Amino acid sequence: MNNEQCCVVSCDKPLDQDYWDAQYKAKSTGWDLGQVSPPIKAYIDTLNNKGCCILIPGCGNTYEAEYLLQEGFTNITVIDIAPTLVEDIKQKFAANPNIKIIQGDFFEHQGKYDLIIEQTFFCALPPTMRQKYVWKMHQLLAEEGVLSGLLFNRTFEVSPPFGGNKEEYETLFKAAFNFLKMDVAPNSIAPRANSELFFEFRKNCNVKVNLYQFEGITCTGCMNTVSAKFEALNDVLNASMNTNFAEVLIVATKEIPLEELQTIVSYDEKYKINKI
Ligand SMILES: C[S@@+](CC[C@H](N)C(=O)[O-])C[C@H]1O[C@@H](n2cnc3c(N)ncnc32)[C@H](O)[C@@H]1O
Repeated sequence: MNNEQCCVVSCDKPLDQDYWDAQYKAKSTGWDLGQVSPPIKAYIDTLNNKGCCILIPGCGNTYEAEYLLQEGFTNITVIDIAPTLVEDIKQKFAANPNIKIIQGDFFEHQGKYDLIIEQTFFCALPPTMRQKYVWKMHQLLAEEGVLSGLLFNRTFEVSPPFGGNKEEYETLFKAAFNFLKMDVAPNSIAPRANSELFFEFRKNCNVKVNLYQFEGITCTGCMNTVSAKFEALNDVLNASMNTNFAEVLIVATKEIPLEELQTIVSYDEKYKINKI
């Protein structure tokens, strides 16, 4: 395997609206637990503020929202890209004023939330989108907002789902979030026992989190060189490039002028960086 390809994690099928809608139409929903995931249920049981503003992205049949409603939470938004699924859950929760159901792309969504619940959404996205996920989550959270839920602590032979591990998630989320908790969940459903991390991350409000398009890198070595150059800047706390080298997430204590980033990579004329 040559160095140019070994770390390019990609997926041969576009995981877009048509893909997900087809899964729901074919009732090919192996991820659906048919119940609120026990670690998330236990977490919800610790929450006192029933009026807090909650988002569940890539919600699917959203047993989490059903449980939140049952427990008296009054400000829940769920979003999913698959129209067939969204029609179903609109009927399921018809006329309930405490839940807002949106059909659309999470990455286009605007709002501010106190809590965002992660349940098999991250793992459904192509790994190339992980930096964008961190950027978007940071953007959607209110001050002191929390991102919490489950992430897989294993790999998969067939994807989606796309797996990962604790070290990778720490590298990805560091500086943009303060880690309150990330441990193997003791109460997963049996088929997922010991393979899920329950996490709770608080938004770091003291940093600027920006996503940039990058052009010109084709190998991990060059990615590491460029990331290290960004991280060497005084105000930069984390620079993380995605697995097809097309996006870079930069977390810094202040806004870094684009020209400064462009100057840093100007030693190679192929390299282009622009804000998304
Ligand atoms: C693996 S399923 C998980 C569903 C649900 N969270 C569960 O655990 O049952 C992933 C879900 O994310 C949705 N999805 C994928 N990409 C999305 C996007 N960009 N915006 C919103 N929803 C998306 C899919 O339609 C699907 O319902």
